Amino acid sequence: MATTTIQTEQAPPAIRPAQSRRMKVDGSDPVFGDWRDDLVRDGYAVIKGAIPRERADKYADQMYSWLEGFNLGFDRNDMSTVHKDNLPAINEKGMCLQYGVTHEDFVWAVRGEPGVVGAFESVYDDQDLIVSFDAINFTLPKRKDIPANKPWPHQDQDPLMPGFRCLQGLVNLLPNGPDDGGLIVCKGSHNLSEQFHKEFINEPRIPAWTPEWFGFTDAGMEWLKNKNCEWLKVCAEPGDLLVWDSRTAHYNLSSKTNQPRFAIYTCYMPVNDATQEDLIKKKGAYERWVGTTHWPNARHTGSNVAKRDGEDDPHNRFEPINKPQMNERTFKLTGIPYIKAEA
Ligand SMILES: [Fe+2]
Repeated sequence: MATTTIQTEQAPPAIRPAQSRRMKVDGSDPVFGDWRDDLVRDGYAVIKGAIPRERADKYADQMYSWLEGFNLGFDRNDMSTVHKDNLPAINEKGMCLQYGVTHEDFVWAVRGEPGVVGAFESVYDDQDLIVSFDAINFTLPKRKDIPANKPWPHQDQDPLMPGFRCLQGLVNLLPNGPDDGGLIVCKGSHNLSEQFHKEFINEPRIPAWTPEWFGFTDAGMEWLKNKNCEWLKVCAEPGDLLVWDSRTAHYNLSSKTNQPRFAIYTCYMPVNDATQEDLIKKKGAYERWVGTTHWPNARHTGSNVAKRDGEDDPHNRFEPINKPQMNERTFKLTGIPYIKAEA
C-alpha cells in the first residue's frame, strides 16, 4: 500500500492578478485559436490528448483493478460478470460515490495531470486552483440488474446566479463512441440560460437537494428545442478531457454496446472563489476521505457508507486502498495550503 506524502511548504497567497484575463464565456473573450473558442460558442469543448495515451491506458487498468479488487466476482474479461452482486455500488448513471474511491491514487494522479489542470488554468487565468472530490464513473454495458438510466437533463448552476461561474470536466479513459454511453450536451444552451430562467422563473422546480442544480422539465426541453438547440453525444478517445460550462444543459447516456465507459470528473475553480470556511470544510472532507459534488468549494460533502440491498454494504471502505502520492501541485488542489493560520 502506498503512503500519503504531503508537502507542507507554505503556498504563496492567492492574489488575483490585477489584469486577470479570466474567461467570461459571454462572447466578449478574445479569439484563442483553440478549444476555448469552442467552449465560448458551444458551451462545451473536447481537449484531445490532455493525458498521453499510455498514461490514460494505465489509469483505465487501475480502475478495472479497483473494481476487481473487491473480489466479488467481477472480471474485466468476462462482461457476463457485470452484476451488482459482483461489484461495489454503482448507480444507474454510472456513478460510484463511496468506498473512498474519489481519493484513490489513480484519481489524484489524473487530477494532477498537467494537461488537465492546465486547461482549467487557461480558462481562469489563474494557477491557484482547487479541485472537486467528485464521483467516478464506471458505466458498464447492458446492465439489467439496476434501474434504467432515464434522461435527467439539467444544469449544475443556480438559476439565480447567472454568468459563467464554473467549468466542469471529465477525463475519458476508454474509447467512447456515439453508442457507448456518456456525456450528452445541449449545444449553445449556456448562452440561453439567463433568458430561459427569466421566462421560467415561476415554473415549479424539479426538487433538488442543492440550489446549484436545475432540472429541465418537458416544457423547458420544448423551449430549448424551439430555440433550435441540438443535443449532441460527445465522443472521445482515452486521455481526452471534456469540459462544459455549468450553465450548459447536459446529462449522460447508458452504453448500447459492449464497450464500458470509464470517466473521472475533474472540476477546478480559483481558490479565491472559495471562503476560508469552505476550505476548512474541504480539508475535513480530504482528511475523512469523503467526496464532494463537482463544486470544488465543498459546500456539500458526502459519505463513504454505501448500501447493498438496503443495508450498509459489508464491503464498505473508509479510506482508499492506495492512498494518493501528493506532490506540491496536487496538494495545493486540496485547498489546504491556502487556509490561513488564524482560520
Ligand atoms: Fe451535471
